[in-house]
Amino acid sequence: MPKQTKPQERTIDKFFNGPSARADRWQDLYDIARAWVNGTKNGSDFEGALADLTATEEFYAYPGSHLMAALRDSVATDDPRSSAALVAKICRALMTRSFRKPGNDWEAQEDDEAAVRDVLPPTLGRADARRPYFETLIVTGAPAERWPALSSEWRRLRRPLDAFVYEPVFVGSVEDAFCAIMLNPDIAAVVINDGFTFRSRHKAPMLRTLTSAFENLYFQNPDASALELATLLKHVRPELDIYIVSSRRVEMMAGSPEAAVARRIFYSVEELLELHLAIMEGIQDRYDTPFFDNLKKYAQRPIGTFHALPIARGKSVFKSDWIRDMGEFYGINLFLAESSATTGGLDSLLEPTGNIKNAQEKAARALGADRVFFVTNGTSTSNKMAVQALLAPGDIAIVDRNCHKSHHYGMVLAGAQPMYVEAFPMTEYSMYGAVPLRTIKKALLDLKSEGRLHRVKMLDLTNCTFDGHIYDTRRVMEECLAIKPDLIFLWDEAWFGFARFSPFLRPRTAMGAANDIETWMNDPASLGVYEQQQSQLGDKPSGQTLLNTRLIPDPRQIRLRVYQTNSTHKSMSAIRQGSMLAVKDVDFHSVEAQFKEAVFTHASTSPNQQIIASLDVSRRQMELEGYGLVANAIEIALAIRQAVASHPLISKYFQILGADQMVPPEYRQSGFTDYLSPNTNWVKAIESMRNDEFCLDPTRMTLVCGTAGFDGTQFKGILASRYNVQVNKTSRNSVLLQSNINNTRSDVAHLIRVLAEISTEIDQRLSRGENNVRREFEGRVNSLMTEVPNLPNFSRFHEAFRKDAGTRTNEGDIRGGFFAAYNAEGCEYIPLSHPDIDKRLKNGPTLVSASFVIPYPPGFPIMVPGQVVTQETVDFMRKLDVKEIHGYDAAEGLKLLRPDALARILGGPPAEKEKGSRKAA
Ligand SMILES: Cc1ncc(COP(=O)(O)O)c(C=O)c1O
Repeated sequence: MPKQTKPQERTIDKFFNGPSARADRWQDLYDIARAWVNGTKNGSDFEGALADLTATEEFYAYPGSHLMAALRDSVATDDPRSSAALVAKICRALMTRSFRKPGNDWEAQEDDEAAVRDVLPPTLGRADARRPYFETLIVTGAPAERWPALSSEWRRLRRPLDAFVYEPVFVGSVEDAFCAIMLNPDIAAVVINDGFTFRSRHKAPMLRTLTSAFENLYFQNPDASALELATLLKHVRPELDIYIVSSRRVEMMAGSPEAAVARRIFYSVEELLELHLAIMEGIQDRYDTPFFDNLKKYAQRPIGTFHALPIARGKSVFKSDWIRDMGEFYGINLFLAESSATTGGLDSLLEPTGNIKNAQEKAARALGADRVFFVTNGTSTSNKMAVQALLAPGDIAIVDRNCHKSHHYGMVLAGAQPMYVEAFPMTEYSMYGAVPLRTIKKALLDLKSEGRLHRVKMLDLTNCTFDGHIYDTRRVMEECLAIKPDLIFLWDEAWFGFARFSPFLRPRTAMGAANDIETWMNDPASLGVYEQQQSQLGDKPSGQTLLNTRLIPDPRQIRLRVYQTNSTHKSMSAIRQGSMLAVKDVDFHSVEAQFKEAVFTHASTSPNQQIIASLDVSRRQMELEGYGLVANAIEIALAIRQAVASHPLISKYFQILGADQMVPPEYRQSGFTDYLSPNTNWVKAIESMRNDEFCLDPTRMTLVCGTAGFDGTQFKGILASRYNVQVNKTSRNSVLLQSNINNTRSDVAHLIRVLAEISTEIDQRLSRGENNVRREFEGRVNSLMTEVPNLPNFSRFHEAFRKDAGTRTNEGDIRGGFFAAYNAEGCEYIPLSHPDIDKRLKNGPTLVSASFVIPYPPGFPIMVPGQVVTQETVDFMRKLDVKEIHGYDAAEGLKLLRPDALARILGGPPAEKEKGSRKAA
């Protein structure tokens, strides 16, 4: 039965301080104010709670010093009603985010229009309510008493022409600047002035836990310079524009390589207007969406099309009696923006030279890559493009056998030889984890020992996995580069694109790690560290020693070649099929031509303009508000996890697997158990993210439903048909819930209500029913939770497809296997339950799959073309109770390559190479 957790009111606050946690703190203050009005609490209770809030509230422009002072005044005048009214107003403004628009949220008095006009500068009048709003952090040496006056000065800079409007937020120290950008997602620009201190002026315990978690990373140098502070802030939130204002020798500073972190350096404050304009320009740069902007312009032009896209302009739609509803449903702009042209302000996706090129360059900046390709046919296509471009026939690629089928098909197309490595199994839940680094290193060392290391070109892994296992991308790449310095890495981050915008997850992304490795390579101290390890290892370290050592690569030898694919449509605001392929490859020039060919092979010559535009817009959104959105997605996930664990009835039948259940202890070296554990805090979570071999992406929640008597497919169906709740994938006894940038707390409330309702139904059924009802339920639960089939490992490729293979390694010619099936006479079908299967498993001839067989779920190929079918595989298939098995037709049976066909491929009489095949011949 699922473990039960007591409700922990502040676990989320303690560990993660997202936007909802702040709203909750204000709501708590409101409750205290109401209690003060009712006489159950008093003014000093309210004052204490207000004081607790004050330190963190300084990091936000709203409610700001003016309203906070009004609240303190209401305490001083012992006025509970005004206090409650003002707190209610602030709560409302925070919840609805109405303070971002002009209005009287900023005033203590509801009806004092004159005062509003006084406080707000004229340009923030009601007319231009739609200007996007952000906040600018000002780090200053000026005393806190002067901040309100400085604030007014900044506001006076606003002009009617400004495309955006911002409020300044002041802090005086390194620690406060760090806390402000961590807590306040509205901050989009930072100005660093001289004279700031190091430690926060606040003693607030919440801030202390936050800074102490990062103590070793960021807070070692009490004399941090403006440039060092800029580097720290940029490390946490790379999207921020940073401006340094100094009265020192700015020419020297500006010339140093470290100065690249600042967007501009100003000499002294006399340039305030210039600074304001630079801030606006910086935001505009992120706001600009080159392709989308042009598409909008294009849609406004009166264009006559004599081209092959009748739907463009919508005339055939809106004039029709029969399909007009399509036009009404989608709206006119879709048709005005449809085009097959690559001229007239639009660009060509296949050979971009204009605004698509610019949009891709901005996406590269956002993802921390050198270049990005937009792909309009999903990450399925991005993966095939990368594999085809980077691998040639005969090249070996070390591949997670459990990866998405696009990689396997990519290998077929490229003629590359996959050398499959296995993820750790999670048999209990019919799913796989991720591939342990030891397994990957062993594969490389085996190839090396056979003198075949030169043939391996790529390591191809999924990060994070479908179920949320996140690799230590940096460590994996470093240790592999120590064995093969020019290895190419392809990280399939189909689910993980959003992670770039979270400082906790970013180091574990492909690009985050690649950038960290690059910084390390450029650090002169790194060579010494490498050489020291070399002298410790000696001349000929054994394979075991290499496996047991955390290997350091030679920074002089590394050719850093990292590719990442992400389904932008899966985690950001792109339309279905919008995907990006990000590249950070020092040797890209050597594969550029191949890359073009791969684009030409896979990209449609009629790419969908709306998908391209949505990729452009997704980038804009993530650069301007991605940090807050991702924080919200994580917070929502933690709220769901907590609500399920603490609800007495839901937790009786359901549970969401914690990190401790998803990641075996040997891969959690930090001892981290789970986000919800009572003793989890920032320090532990950060340590886990930095040191554990695998972490769990909190936004991917495996909800076990077998304990409620449902298999995954059945439960997914119930949620969809009865409650309009859609979930991600299923396993035999679980469904996968995923929170994303789109979710709200109302969604959490709905889900919890639904689970509570289902749990109540089960409970009532069991308590009212006869004994046999209970027995039947327990039998079903037992069957779902314990009678789970063993997950079959990859067996081996048949000899016919291993003509040039090594002896210790399992790579094979998957393309040979695939195309062998094109010869219909060389194939046979045997039903899975037919006794011939068992006979041949026992006595031969060997059964060899002619196709990919991919049951869904779990979604990994249990057979690939050319693979030998084993007892394990057959047992698994016989126990499978899923309906959807790609590549397998139950009526026909297993599609196999006939022994005589295999013998022909082998080029010799069957008996010599193979046990039992003579009989078949
Ligand atoms: C790991 C992984 N990679 C790639 C894909 C394919 O992505 P897309 O649906 O964008 O084609 C998926 C789809 O589920 C996936 O799970």
